[in-house]
Amino acid sequence: MRYTDFPDAPAKGAILCRSSDVGRGFHSATPGGFAFLVVQTDNGPRAYVNACPHRFLPLDHRGDQVIGTDGRLLCTNHSAAFDARSGEGVAGFGLGCALTPVPLRREGGNLVVA
Ligand code: FES
Repeated sequence: MRYTDFPDAPAKGAILCRSSDVGRGFHSATPGGFAFLVVQTDNGPRAYVNACPHRFLPLDHRGDQVIGTDGRLLCTNHSAAFDARSGEGVAGFGLGCALTPVPLRREGGNLVVA
């Protein structure tokens, strides 16, 4: 599934957030109805549609503890785990599926859709 398959997907060049919003953790928002999250990884920020493939709920639906001690992304609903750098499911209900990436690039102090 591509991010453009989701309703209200932002156009190429749309600003998702400021780089500083992510800091060393994550940032989620729903501008114009499109829910996304950006997570900081050791390879730079990565953006995903904020819809867990298990039940399509936001990963942070039940709280903001979405980054595990090992750097994996965790769904707060039923504990699916995903590799933060690739979005691939690595444990629980995440196995066999993946988060939907949103291509990202830096532009000035912003992170925009690439
Ligand atoms: S909705 Fe994410 S694990 Fe169930």
